[in-house]
Amino acid sequence: MNGLDKGTSKGTGSSANRPSAYQSLPARYYTCPEHFRAEMDYFFGSRWVCAGQAESLEKAGDYRLQEIAGENLILTRVPDGQIRAFYNLCRHRGARLCESERGTFKGRIQCPYHAWTYDLNGALVGAPHMADTPGFAVADYPLHAAACAQWNGLLFVNLAKEPAPIDEQLGPLSERLRPWRIHDLKVGRRAVYQVKANWKHIIQNYSECLHCPVIHPALAKISPYMSGENEPAHRSYLGGRMSLKDGVDTMTMSGKTTRAPLPGLGPEQLRYVYYYASLPNLLLSLHPDYVMTHLLLPKSVNETEILCEFLFHPDQLARPDFTADDAYEFWDLTNRQDWHASELSQQGMMSRAYTPGPYSVREALLHGFDELILERFPLDP
Ligand code: FES
Ligand SMILES: [Fe+2]
Repeated sequence: MNGLDKGTSKGTGSSANRPSAYQSLPARYYTCPEHFRAEMDYFFGSRWVCAGQAESLEKAGDYRLQEIAGENLILTRVPDGQIRAFYNLCRHRGARLCESERGTFKGRIQCPYHAWTYDLNGALVGAPHMADTPGFAVADYPLHAAACAQWNGLLFVNLAKEPAPIDEQLGPLSERLRPWRIHDLKVGRRAVYQVKANWKHIIQNYSECLHCPVIHPALAKISPYMSGENEPAHRSYLGGRMSLKDGVDTMTMSGKTTRAPLPGLGPEQLRYVYYYASLPNLLLSLHPDYVMTHLLLPKSVNETEILCEFLFHPDQLARPDFTADDAYEFWDLTNRQDWHASELSQQGMMSRAYTPGPYSVREALLHGFDELILERFPLDP
C-alpha cells in the first residue's frame, strides 16, 4: 500500500546469514507450514500481539473470543474494570468453555460439559462431585490467564510465561503516535478481508511504495509515491511517512473531506500520512483527520485475516452529517489492490522456479524486517 521508500535503514540485526546483495527470502519462509508454526510460536507466542479494540468490552462480564497464535482466548472485562485474557478451556478435562464469539457473562463462566463454574476473575468457585476427591482444592484451578494490556485504546496480549513489559516493545512507537491521541478516537467503520497470502507479504507490501504508481492510481494522484521517507527499521516497528500533494487534505478519492483535522496535530502532520507497522500484527496509518488500523490474524502459512478499522474523533462522529464513506471508499479500493498484490507474491513463491530476487535500495524496510526473521530462522548454510 503505502510507501516508505527513501530508506537508508541500517537493518535490525546480524547480517551474518545474508548474501552480500540484499534479496528476498527463500520460498520456505512463505510456504512451509512447519516454518509458519515456528514463526507463530516466536512472533505471536512470545511478543505483545494486538488483539483489537478495547471499546467493545464496556461493562464487567462483556467478552469476545480472539484467536492468537492458534490459541482461542476469552477477552473479558472483569469486575475491577480491567480487561483480562483467559485461555478458552476448562480446568477439569479441558473442554472449550465458551463457543459464542461475543456476549456478556451473567456473573459467572460455566463449563458446558460438567458445569465447573468460574467467577468473572477466572477463579474456580464450583466443581460438582469433587468434594470427596483427595487433595482437591478449587483454589488450585483458576482459568489459565495470558498477559493483557491496553495501549492507545487497543488490546494487546502476550502468551509468554514471563512477558516483558509492554513498554519495552511499544514504548518507542508511543512517542511517535502521541499527537494523534489515538486513545480518544472511536471506530466509525470496519471491514474484514480474507487474504490468500502469508502474513509477512502483507507487512512487506505495506513497507514500500514502488508499486504505488502501478497498482494504486487513485493513491498516486494525491500522494507522490517517491515522497516516502523511511525511519530506520526498529526491532518493534517499521515506518515513515509520505506527503500529500498541495491542495490535498487527506486520503479520500477527492483528496478533500468535511471532517476537521485531529486536534493534537501540528502543521507538518497535516501535510503527511504516517505509516507504521507495529510488529508483528498491527498496521497504523495516521491521517490528518482519521486513523486507519489493520489487524493481521494469520490463519495458515498462506491465509491471513485482516480487520480494518477507521477511527475518528468523537466530535466528528457526533455530527449529523458525519460519514466515513469517503475514507472507506478510498482505502477499500487501495486495500484490495494491496491484498491482490500480496496474493500474487504468494502464488509466485509457490513455484519451483522461484529464487530470491534483489531488493531495490528503496526497499530497505523489507530487508530490515527480513533481518528480524533471520535472527531466529537463519538461512540454510
Ligand atoms: S471439562 Fe469442564 S466441567 Fe468437565
Ligand atoms: Fe500499496
